[in-house]
Amino acid sequence: MKKELKNLINNNPWFARYYNFEELEIVWLRDNKQRESIYEQYDFSEKTIIDVWCNLGKNFIFLSQKNPKKLIGVDLPYSIEVAKKIKKFYEISNTQLYSTNLNALNWFKKLETETNISTYDYSLFVSVYGTKELKNRDNILKTLINHTKDTLFFEGHHLENHSKYSQIFLKQNVKNFYFHWYLRDKENDFTSNVRPFFTVSSKFSEKEDIIKTIQNIKQKKWRVVIWLEWLAGSGKSTFVKELENKLENENMIIIDDLKWNDKNCYKPTNTFCKILSFKIIDFVKKKFNLKPICKSLNHILYNKTYDFVIISDYKLRKYVNNVDVLINIEVDEKVRKIRLKERERGGENLSDFSSQNIQSNNFECDYFFTIKND
Ligand SMILES: C[S@@+](CC[C@H](N)C(=O)[O-])C[C@H]1O[C@@H](n2cnc3c(N)ncnc32)[C@H](O)[C@@H]1O
Repeated sequence: MKKELKNLINNNPWFARYYNFEELEIVWLRDNKQRESIYEQYDFSEKTIIDVWCNLGKNFIFLSQKNPKKLIGVDLPYSIEVAKKIKKFYEISNTQLYSTNLNALNWFKKLETETNISTYDYSLFVSVYGTKELKNRDNILKTLINHTKDTLFFEGHHLENHSKYSQIFLKQNVKNFYFHWYLRDKENDFTSNVRPFFTVSSKFSEKEDIIKTIQNIKQKKWRVVIWLEWLAGSGKSTFVKELENKLENENMIIIDDLKWNDKNCYKPTNTFCKILSFKIIDFVKKKFNLKPICKSLNHILYNKTYDFVIISDYKLRKYVNNVDVLINIEVDEKVRKIRLKERERGGENLSDFSSQNIQSNNFECDYFFTIKND
C-alpha cells in the first residue's frame, strides 16, 4: 500500500512534488510546519472546517488531530482519489472529500447539497487565490468569507507582496484580518519560497484584543502607525484616549481633529499645537498650506523617535495609504446622530462629513480591525 501510495503522490498531475509526507518517506517542497504553528493557535475542537483546493489533504493530517467535528476537502478528481487513500493510510476520521470544480459557478450550492453544511467555523484557502487556472477568484473568496463563522486561513502565492491582499480583503468588506508574515516552504530553510499568510474574519474585534495586538506588534517593529477612520460622533476620540492611556508611551504622536479653512489649509488650533510641539517646522514656515504638512507627515511617519503614530483625521487620507494597523468602527446611525446633536448643542461645530470608503481606496495595512460601538 505504501509503495502504491508513494507512486500516486509522486505522479499527481497538479502540484506534484509539493508536500512532504514524512511517514511515507516523501520529501519535496513543503513541510507545512509554519502553517501548522498558526493553526495551533486556534481551537478546532467540535468545529467544522473546509479546505478549498485541499490538494492531497496535507492540512487534514494535522487538523484531524484537533478533534474537529467535520473536515471537508474539495479538489479535482485525481487529487481527491489520492487524498482518500492518504486519509486511509493516516487513519484520519471525520473527513469527507469531494471532487468539485471550483470554476463552476454554483460549486458551493452543489457542495452544500452533498454535505448538508452551509456554514463552516473555519475555512482554508491556502495558496489558491493566485492560481492562474482559477476563474472568479474574488467570488470564490467572497463565498468562503460569507460562509465562514470564525476564521478564514488565507495564503497567497510565492513571491507575492502581502499588501495586494490587504487591499483585496478590504474590498471584500471583512471585519478584520491579520498578516502573519511570509511563511517559508520549509521552516528551517531560509532560502525556500515565501508566501504571505493571513487570517481573515467577519467577526467584530474587542478593544482589549486590539490593544494587545498593537503591543505585540511593537515588540516586532520599531514604530507602529495606526489609522482610525470613523465618522464624527462614532466614538473615535474616546478610543484614541483609551489607546493613549493603555499604550502608556512617551514617544507617541496623535494627529486628531485637524481644523481646515476653506482654502483647504490647516488652521492652527489648540489641538494642532500638539503636533507643532513635535517640531514640524516646515509646516509653520509655509503658512500652513498643504504641501508642507505632507512633508511633515512623512517626517512623522518615518521619524524613528516615535514608537506609536496614531492618525485619525480623515482629511489626511489622500496622503497616507499604507499603515500598520487600520481600525474601523461600525456604529448605529441613530445613536451617532443623537450624539452629534448633543455635541452641537454643547457648542461644537461639527461637519458631518462622510468619510471616504476605506474599502474602495487602495488602502494597505497589515492588521485591520472593526469594532462595534453601541
Ligand atoms: C494551488 S494547489 C493547492 C494548494 C493547497 N491548497 C495547499 O495546501 O497549498 C493546486 C490544487 O488545485 C486543484 N485545482 C486546480 N483546478 C481546480 C478546479 N478547477 N477545481 C478544483 N480544484 C482545482 C489541483 O487539483 C491542485 O490540487
